[in-house]
Amino acid sequence: MKPLSLTIILSGLAVAALPLVAQDRPKPDAATGEIARSGQREDFRTFEAEDGDLAYFADAARLTQEGGEAVYEAVCAGCHMPEGEGAVGAGMYPALAGNEMLEFPEYPIYVIVHGQKAMPPLGSILSDEQVAEVTNYIRSHFGNDYVEGEDGIAATPEDVAGVRP
Ligand code: HEC
Repeated sequence: MKPLSLTIILSGLAVAALPLVAQDRPKPDAATGEIARSGQREDFRTFEAEDGDLAYFADAARLTQEGGEAVYEAVCAGCHMPEGEGAVGAGMYPALAGNEMLEFPEYPIYVIVHGQKAMPPLGSILSDEQVAEVTNYIRSHFGNDYVEGEDGIAATPEDVAGVRP
């Protein structure tokens, strides 16, 4: 997973840089295939990654938000809307507000980790803690009272670890 997302990020950077070099793009030598502009090879600078840079890329695929609300706003609100009201547009995004499917934590945890139909799997970008927290957030907001209420059940990071592939 990580090497792939690194490739995507790096090719994204390469595409972003293309217009800058397009006017004077070096052509590969017909005989050797080597890319060089006559005698100006020293113009090219090689990017040397330092430890800190690599750590940044290694973590880029992970979301750093902490707490259910922050994760919800960063990841979920774009589809399910800020108040969990859902949306009908290019697709159907179910409302999480007043949603009885959230009564028990197992179902939302499973959907978040594995995805379901048009909802992408998010298990690889969220930690066990983040999934548990956002699960409890949607189960205790938007008119839902399944965490603290009578017979309430809180999702735990262990619950999340249990459904990971
Ligand atoms: C790219 C859009 C998208 C994102 C981002 C997204 N969802 Fe979804 N979600 C959907 C769609 C579409 C469905 C309906 C899936 C289906 O048809 O079964 C869904 C279904 C769900 C369901 C099941 C609802 C039900 O009534 O069965 C839950 C719970 C849920 N999402 C929670 C979340 C949470 C929490 C997040 C953020 C961590 C999130 N979703 C992020 C699009 C999204």
